Amino acid sequence: MRYVFVHWKHDIPEEPSHLWYEVADDNFQNRTIEFYADGSVGFAIRGPALDGSEDIEVGGTGNSTEGFPDLAEINSDSQFEASEVTAVDFERQWREALASRFRMTHVFTIAIDGPAGAGKGTLARRLADHYRLNLLDTGLTYRAVAYALLQHALPLDNVSAAETAARQVDLAKLDRAMLSAHAVGEAASKVAVYPTVRRILVEKQRDFAKTPPGAVLDGRDIGTVVCPDADIKLYVTASAEVRAQRRLAEIESIGGSANFSEILADIVRRDERDMGRADSPLKPATDAHLLDTSEMAIEAAFLAAKTIIDDALAKRDKA
Ligand code: DC
Repeated sequence: MRYVFVHWKHDIPEEPSHLWYEVADDNFQNRTIEFYADGSVGFAIRGPALDGSEDIEVGGTGNSTEGFPDLAEINSDSQFEASEVTAVDFERQWREALASRFRMTHVFTIAIDGPAGAGKGTLARRLADHYRLNLLDTGLTYRAVAYALLQHALPLDNVSAAETAARQVDLAKLDRAMLSAHAVGEAASKVAVYPTVRRILVEKQRDFAKTPPGAVLDGRDIGTVVCPDADIKLYVTASAEVRAQRRLAEIESIGGSANFSEILADIVRRDERDMGRADSPLKPATDAHLLDTSEMAIEAAFLAAKTIIDDALAKRDKA
C-alpha cells in the first residue's frame, strides 16, 4: 500500500479549506477527510470501507477513481500540494483527522486537574490548539473574584462580597496578565473554599464547556465536579520540589530572585488548602488518567496526553 497526503495551499471560503487526507491503492481502496473553512469536517470512505459507503467525488482533481493518485497531475493544479508519505506518517495524520471528526457531531470536553505549577496550563493550551477546542483556565475565575476583593480592600472572608464579585465575572474578559500575580493566586485559593462562590463560578464554567465544538478546561475540580462526564480526564501532577524549582527558574528567567525553600513552603501550603477544603477538593477523578510531569518536559506531556485522547477517539470510532 502506498500513501499520499494532499493539502490545499490556500484557505478557500466555502471550499474544503486546508487539509485533505487520502490513501489509495490499486484496488481503489480510498479514505478521505476534508476540513472546511467553517470548521466542519467531511469524511468519506471508498472501496471496502469501514462504513460501506462508496464512490465519493473528492476535490475534483480526478485522482479518486483511477487507483493511486497521480501526484504529478495533482501538483499541476496550483491549489494543491501532494506528496507520498510513509505509512507511519499517514496513520498519524489520519488519526488526527479522525480525531477532528468529533467537531461535527459532539461537544467534546477535556478536563485537566492538578496542583499549581504542574504544567496543566501549558498542556491545556497545547491541547486546545491541537484539537481546535475552546480553552478555559478556571483558576482565572477564582483569581478574578480574589482580585475584586483585593481591589476594594475587602477581607477575603467577606462571602457576600465574594458572591457579588463571582456573579460579575465575565469569562470573555479574564485578563491573565492582570490576574497572574502570586498574591492573587494565594487569595484565590482562600476565596475558593466558599461553596456559594464556587457554585456561581461552576455554573459559568459548565456553560462555557457546553459551547460547540467543546473545550479544554483546567483547574482543580473539573473532572470531579464541573464536568464529571468529560470525554477525557487528565490529572497532571509533579512533586512539590520540582514545581518549586520550575517556579524559581521562571522568576529568575525574568530577572527576579526568590528563595527556594520559601517557594516550596508556599506550594505545600497551597496544596494543603486546595486538597483539604471540604467543598470540591483537589483530587483525581476515579476515571482520570494520571500524568506525572516531574521528569517530563512539556512536549513529552503533550504527546502522552495526545496518545490518550487519540486512543479514546479511535475506540469511540470503532464502537
Ligand atoms: O490554577 P490557579 O493557580 O490559577 O488557581 C488559583 C486558585 O484557585 C487555586 O489555588 C484554587 C482555586 N481554584 C479552584 O478552587 N478550583 C478551580 N477549578 C481552579 C482554581
